[in-house]
Amino acid sequence: MRIDILTVVPELLVSPLNESILKRAQRAGLVEIVVHNIRDWATDKHRHVDDYPFGGEAGMVMKPEPVFRLISHLQSERRYDEVIFTTPDGMQYDQREANRLSTLGNIIILCGHYKGLDHRIREHLVTREISIGDYVLTGGELAAAVIADSVVRLLPGAIGDEESALTDSFQDGLLAPPVYTRPAEFNGWAVPEVLLSGHDARIEEWKEEQALERTRRLRPDLLEKWED
Ligand code: ADE
Repeated sequence: MRIDILTVVPELLVSPLNESILKRAQRAGLVEIVVHNIRDWATDKHRHVDDYPFGGEAGMVMKPEPVFRLISHLQSERRYDEVIFTTPDGMQYDQREANRLSTLGNIIILCGHYKGLDHRIREHLVTREISIGDYVLTGGELAAAVIADSVVRLLPGAIGDEESALTDSFQDGLLAPPVYTRPAEFNGWAVPEVLLSGHDARIEEWKEEQALERTRRLRPDLLEKWED
């Protein structure tokens, strides 16, 4: 898989994409993540990537030419399954969408900045608009990092323990049950007895009950989705 991220602030993406599981996945050749500075594709000598909006609203708008040039260049080199735009007015990102993206070949993620993006880019180039939540970030870079992180960890081989991505919170629509490690007693607080019992069926049953109980208490909205 290849993920191309288009931004005017590439510095924001250096660290989130180059540590831990994402770093290992890239080294292992599971994914190639390439960050592009949109400014390098500007058409004027001052390398402008934004301009005043027609109609006189406040704030600057990202110009179409540099983004069109860069995306056309990328698309001339390989096929992309999605051109994603990160924006607070996009569809709400969730585990289901992360799963779907992880099955694709190559994707482009275009990070919004300034007041917005010239609408022709959204109409003619972007195939998917994604929001990571109902709040406004200063730009789409952190959202792009969230998407890349949640997708890459799902690629086969990215996580050491094959099972663990499948047992994540949300993967079956429920929150994950609590987990414990040694010592079995700490500060007088004991690990639930059943986990020490060695009785696999009882442990599984306990985990399911806990997952349901936590979801009911903390995220009843997920349960409604799950019961549909
Ligand atoms: N850009 C600014 N805010 C955002 C959000 N909540 N999700 C995705 N991209 C954004």
